[in-house]
Amino acid sequence: MSEIAVIGAGTMGHAIALVFALGGHRVRLTDTSQATLDRAPGLMNAAVETLAEAGELGPAIQEKGIGQSVRLCPSLADAVTGADIVIEAIIETEAAKAALFAQLESLMGPDAILASNTSQLDIFPLVPEALKARTLIAHWYTPPYLVDLIDVVGGPKSDPAAIETVRATLAAMGKAPLVFQKFVPGYIANRIQAAIAAEVYTLLDAGLVTPEEVDLSVIHGLALRLPVLAVLAKADFTGLPLVNTVLTNGSYVPPAEPKQNATLDRLVAEGRTGVMAGKGFFDWGDRSPAELFRERDRRLLQLKKALRGIKPMMGAATV
Ligand SMILES: NC(=O)c1ccc[n+]([C@@H]2O[C@H](COP(=O)([O-])OP(=O)(O)OC[C@H]3O[C@@H](n4cnc5c(N)ncnc54)[C@H](O)[C@@H]3O)[C@@H](O)[C@H]2O)c1
Repeated sequence: MSEIAVIGAGTMGHAIALVFALGGHRVRLTDTSQATLDRAPGLMNAAVETLAEAGELGPAIQEKGIGQSVRLCPSLADAVTGADIVIEAIIETEAAKAALFAQLESLMGPDAILASNTSQLDIFPLVPEALKARTLIAHWYTPPYLVDLIDVVGGPKSDPAAIETVRATLAAMGKAPLVFQKFVPGYIANRIQAAIAAEVYTLLDAGLVTPEEVDLSVIHGLALRLPVLAVLAKADFTGLPLVNTVLTNGSYVPPAEPKQNATLDRLVAEGRTGVMAGKGFFDWGDRSPAELFRERDRRLLQLKKALRGIKPMMGAATV
């Protein structure tokens, strides 16, 4: 059992804290916003209820409740002092992260490891020299208590032992840490997701497709094959000459890097910001975000259970 400090209790932080608590660790959670910190137990408890309902919770945590395992800390010092692993899950700006890392230098113990959840920043130049050997990125996907992939990558000065400690800790909780040899901005899954987003928002902006057409194409076309064949095994089944032809004959030109998207700008300006607002591309009716999250989680859990029995197809790599 380790002492885990999670800094930032927002969308990701509270849910990462929950994963460590479910994994049997003692967790301290802090945020500069008291309102965000106060909201965290309710969100964690709702996720715990969904997991319990699906039979995915160990009996110990059901008896103890999450309150015993996650301590809300009013100050950064309270959260970090004595922690073995410090998870940084604060806002995605270089300035905020650099300021936090500077504070952590004097608060973290001499052996404590810092793991950042940054989505795409190269945080390593922002880290004080004294922490560089003990700093790495461990990037989670939402919701972290259901999605197992965690991208793990060190910087030029990271100690391989620190990377291995974090990898082993994550793996022991049933997660699927993927250790990268080099920092790739956006990792792999986020880059693929970004390519899909660029394509879809360009088609919407051009008025060529509707939101329903986009999501139905993905649900009925892409979704069935992805869990079994992913991308490269599917290419082997298609046949590589055809894959090569489609890629190089000019019939498909990827959209230029989008600097602005009129559809998204319009929706955001109208306050249609997504599930939290009850409307985004789709109208989510009168149901609260908590209800919608629970419905999403229930369905994802059903799928996850089914996929456990269906192993993906992947041979030995040849390149
Ligand atoms: N939202 C996602 O799906 C997702 C997925 C993977 C990674 N990430 C990354 O995780 C990090 C957090 O993202 P989020 O979506 O949870 O953001 P969020 O805005 O929901 O939460 C960030 C929290 O950090 C707090 N904060 C800001 N400065 C702080 C400080 N100095 N000390 C303590 N708390 C501070 C804020 O009050 C806020 O509650 C970002 O780096 C983001 O890129 C997000």
